[in-house]
Amino acid sequence: MKYLASLNKYFWKYRWRLGLGIIFIFLSNLFGVLTPQVVRFAVDETIDEVTKSHNSNTVVGNVFAHTILWTAALILGLALLRGLFLFFMRQTIIVMSRYIEFDQKNELYNHYQQLDSNFYKENATGDLMSRITEDVSRVRMYVGPAVMYVINTVILFAMVMVVMWNVNPELAMYALIPLPLLALCIFLLNSVIERKSEKIQQQLSTLTSAAQETFSGIRVLKAYTQEFLTEKFFEKENIEYKRRQMSLAKTESVFFPTIFLLVGLSTLLVIFIGGKKVIEGTITPGNIAEFVMYINMLTWPIASMGWVLAQVQRAAASQKRINEFLSVQPDIKNPTEEKSIPKGGIEFHRVSFTYRNTGITALKNISFRLLPGEKMAVIGRTGSGKSTLASLLTRHYDVSEGGILIGGKDVRALNLEELRSHVRVVPQDVFLFSDTVSNNISFGNDHVNNHTIKEYAVHASVANDIEQLPDAFETMVGERGVMLSGGQKQRITIARALISNPAVLVLDDCLSAVDSKTEYHILRQFNQLLEHKTAIVITHRIFSLLHFDKIIVLDKGSIVEEGKHEELLRRQGLYYQLYELQKQEEKNTL
Ligand SMILES: Nc1ncnc2c1ncn2[C@@H]1O[C@H](COP(=O)(O)OP(=O)(O)OP(=O)(O)O)[C@@H](O)[C@H]1O
Ligand SMILES: [Mg+2]
Repeated sequence: MKYLASLNKYFWKYRWRLGLGIIFIFLSNLFGVLTPQVVRFAVDETIDEVTKSHNSNTVVGNVFAHTILWTAALILGLALLRGLFLFFMRQTIIVMSRYIEFDQKNELYNHYQQLDSNFYKENATGDLMSRITEDVSRVRMYVGPAVMYVINTVILFAMVMVVMWNVNPELAMYALIPLPLLALCIFLLNSVIERKSEKIQQQLSTLTSAAQETFSGIRVLKAYTQEFLTEKFFEKENIEYKRRQMSLAKTESVFFPTIFLLVGLSTLLVIFIGGKKVIEGTITPGNIAEFVMYINMLTWPIASMGWVLAQVQRAAASQKRINEFLSVQPDIKNPTEEKSIPKGGIEFHRVSFTYRNTGITALKNISFRLLPGEKMAVIGRTGSGKSTLASLLTRHYDVSEGGILIGGKDVRALNLEELRSHVRVVPQDVFLFSDTVSNNISFGNDHVNNHTIKEYAVHASVANDIEQLPDAFETMVGERGVMLSGGQKQRITIARALISNPAVLVLDDCLSAVDSKTEYHILRQFNQLLEHKTAIVITHRIFSLLHFDKIIVLDKGSIVEEGKHEELLRRQGLYYQLYELQKQEEKNTL
């Protein structure tokens, strides 16, 4: 239950709606409880008239005109009123639960967005999704229906108790004895049903994934003539599925008979004990009719308590999972609302970084300084720590040791949003949204017009490719950009970064999927475009075409060489080796 306490803030938020709902529940039950009393009156009155009168014809006429007709009308009226308030009750409480569901989804989504890379590495996407969908809707079953049924049962029970007690306390007791037993039975049956349904669900997913794998690998299967084997496997799983379904059906078939048995028992007791009391003269026959109706009225609300209990348990488990995520605080937080970024260059001061999850030290004691407007290349073999360097600069991770300064100020003290728009990284793993090409380019810059978008597409040497697409710039790129080639995607992300016109641009291996001719074009553009910008170009290829003020060569997380192109070549170290290798490759491909 303690997990569900975190939902109280929502109940408080919607307290007026909830309060109104409770009033409606009260009213609907009030009209409900009045009905048996009208019936009691009708029965007693009829019996009275019959015993008083001797002429059977006048009796029928009298009784019908005086009692039955208008009590029937009254009962109808009460039923209508009750129905009306039941409608209002659902309109307030169930609608409240939808509002809470809405709020909770938003709360989780906003929280997700604040969490950092570490969180996303440690938790699977499927898990994130299921908490925001399935778990939230299970919680809704608690804040809506479960709460509604509990309040309803409590109010109805109290009302019925009062009227029954007034008639005859002893008879009231006998009538109520079987009901707690009913609730217990339903709870137990419900738990068994839940458990069995869960098992069926598991088996169903085994079955579907077995089928899915078979069909997606059908060509291999047929080629190796293994149909028989998978058929056997599928049949075995299917038999298990059937067995579990049958077992559930058996439990479910006990459900209703149990309810009717216990309700019947209650009715039997009332008629038996009540009958004796009528003979004694303590109660009237109408009271028996009334009691039987009360028992029937209580049956469903009490029976629903078993269901409610199961729902509350599920909701608590779900809320626990939701709270787990909500309580995660991002390591990387925005330290200040002060938006300005100090002018000046970038400095890495003895930076070391170890990935928390793998324990891999990706960068060791890295120091360099880059003045505004300077261009730097970071070169190194795969796994040498180049991308890590970019992630640290924009605080996707924080350094383990040392510090990164912009304009002399530590990045950890700068406004996070400003920092990330000051330094734009074109990441190595391109990502396009399933939207149009132009929206993918203008992403986050709503004010740019189509003309500008085209201009930047030209800068990134991708305009020609885009024009070839069926709807040119308005083409939908498909999920993650499946419609496009790797190189086209890369260049679109370059255009995306350029259009936001950042002061510092970091290009992480962004030309790996383009051919050397396109590379040549882009690099020529870069010479102009980056003229007044600070740029860090991460690459494992050496671009002799671009002028770099500084080149650092990374190996296993450390800077092994540093200098300008010619100096590094003269040194005949790792840079020289990489360069020679590249020249060889280029010769071979020509
Ligand atoms: N998210 C991560 N979690 C844990 N370890 C990581 C993560 N990303 C990278 N590493 C490790 O850090 C080291 C440096 O990786 P990094 O991605 O910076 O290399 P890189 O120089 O960019 O390589 P490439 O040229 O292949 O892109 C590698 O040993 C890698 O295994
Ligand atoms: Mg990389």
